[in-house]
Amino acid sequence: MFPDNNIFLNASGPKCTTQDELINLNNSQVGSIVSKSCTLLERSGNEEPRYYHNNMGSINSMGLPNLGHKFYLEMSKKISKPYFISIAGLNCDESLEIVEKVLKYIETNETKIDGLEINLSCPNIIGKGQIGYDFEVMDKYFLDCFTILKKYSKKPLIGFKLPPYFEIHHFDIVSDIMKKYPIDFITCINSIGNGLIIDFTKKKTCIRPKYGVGGIGGDYVKPTGLSNVWNFYLNFKKKNIKIKIIGCGGIKKGQDAYEYLLCGADYLQIGTQFYREDVVCFKRISEELKIILNYNKINSLEEIRGKLEVI
Ligand code: DHB
Repeated sequence: MFPDNNIFLNASGPKCTTQDELINLNNSQVGSIVSKSCTLLERSGNEEPRYYHNNMGSINSMGLPNLGHKFYLEMSKKISKPYFISIAGLNCDESLEIVEKVLKYIETNETKIDGLEINLSCPNIIGKGQIGYDFEVMDKYFLDCFTILKKYSKKPLIGFKLPPYFEIHHFDIVSDIMKKYPIDFITCINSIGNGLIIDFTKKKTCIRPKYGVGGIGGDYVKPTGLSNVWNFYLNFKKKNIKIKIIGCGGIKKGQDAYEYLLCGADYLQIGTQFYREDVVCFKRISEELKIILNYNKINSLEEIRGKLEVI
C-alpha cells in the first residue's frame, strides 16, 4: 500500500522499464515505484529519436516499449518498496486481459504487488485514441474491470492514470462516472498529447514518430496538472468521493510539490525531472519540500492539503 511518510513516486515512463532501472529506483529514496506501462507481450516501441527534452520540458512518442507484463510481475520478487504495475495494453480488451492476469498472479503467488495503475491515457499509439477522452468507453472499461476484480480475494489498490482535461464540465462527467466504482486513486495528469517541439535552427522536429508530435511533459504542463488536481479535488469533495489523487506534471522543485499539495494531491509523481536528474531528484525535492513546510510551521500535510485559497 502507499507509505505514510513518503509521498513521492516515479511517474510511469522514464527509467522504469528494465531490471536495472527498477532496481535503481528500489535503491533510491523514492517512496513507491511504478513500472513502465506494460502490454501483454514485449514491444520495442516507435522509431527513434522518440524522446527529447529542453529546459522547459519534454516530448515523447515512445510507443510503449516494454518487456511484457510477465516481466513486471516477476520484478515484484526483487522490489522491496511499495510496487505499482502500470498497465496499458494496445486496446481495452488487451488491457483487461492484463488486469486479469495480474490479479491471478497476485492470488496465487506469495509476492507483493501493491497496486495497479491502469493507463487510460497513452497518446502515442499510432491510430488509437485515449480511453480517458471517450467517456462511454471509459465507463464500460470500469464496469468490466471491477467485474473482473470481484472474482479475486486479494485486492491490490486500483487506480487510473488520466489524460489532462481542459473543459470544466469534463471533471464533473468523469467524477460522476468514477463515483460508481471502488477506485482507490487517480493519477493526473499524463502528458498533454500530440504537442510539437521543434528545432528551429535545423527546421526539424525533435522526435521522429507521428510527424514529430508527442506527449508533452515538464514545465509546459504544470498549470494544466495543477488545474486537473484542483478540479478533481473540488469535485470529489462536493460529491463525497473518497478517491486519492496523485499529482503529476512539471514537479521539479519543492515549491512545485507544495503547490500540488495545496491543490489537493495526496501523493506526487515525478517524470521529466526524474529523467533529467535520475533518482537523486526524489531526495532533493522532498528535502526542499520539508524546508518550505518547516518555514511555514506546518507539522502535517493535512494542514495544507487542498487548502488553496481563491483570491
Ligand atoms: C507511452 C506514453 C505515455 O504517455 C503513456 O502514458 C504510456 C506509454 C509511450 O509512448 O510509451
